[in-house]
Amino acid sequence: MNSNQITKYNDNVMEHFKSPRNVGEIDDENVSGFSITGDPECGDQLYLWIKVEKEKIVDIKFKLFGCPGAIATSSMMTVLAKGKSIKKAKKITDDDIINSLGGIPENKKHCSLLGVVALQNAIREYEIKKMSEIL
Ligand code: FES
Repeated sequence: MNSNQITKYNDNVMEHFKSPRNVGEIDDENVSGFSITGDPECGDQLYLWIKVEKEKIVDIKFKLFGCPGAIATSSMMTVLAKGKSIKKAKKITDDDIINSLGGIPENKKHCSLLGVVALQNAIREYEIKKMSEIL
């Protein structure tokens, strides 16, 4: 689907907006990586927690202060990332999220980047922690 042609949120986006998946937090004892990521243009902010076991994201939770597009795309990002290896999760793109939702209006495409960047940041924190434990 060409997201350039979409002018309003589709049913799938609305469903994720109304019932976002994986909302919440992972407690300090179980969290492997955490990030706070903001969009400087609009001020939206995404808090993301990941739990990693054997290099696999076994749990992921988020809290978001932001727009419907960011809520729906962050929800889909968590669906795509959960159960994936760190290696595969790093490859998730904003287009993967948008395509999985069946498209998003062009002027809301940037909202999907928030989830992607937050995921990369949380993975980076996990990898830094892991490295410091080895050293
Ligand atoms: Fe800021 Fe959607 S308008 S992320």
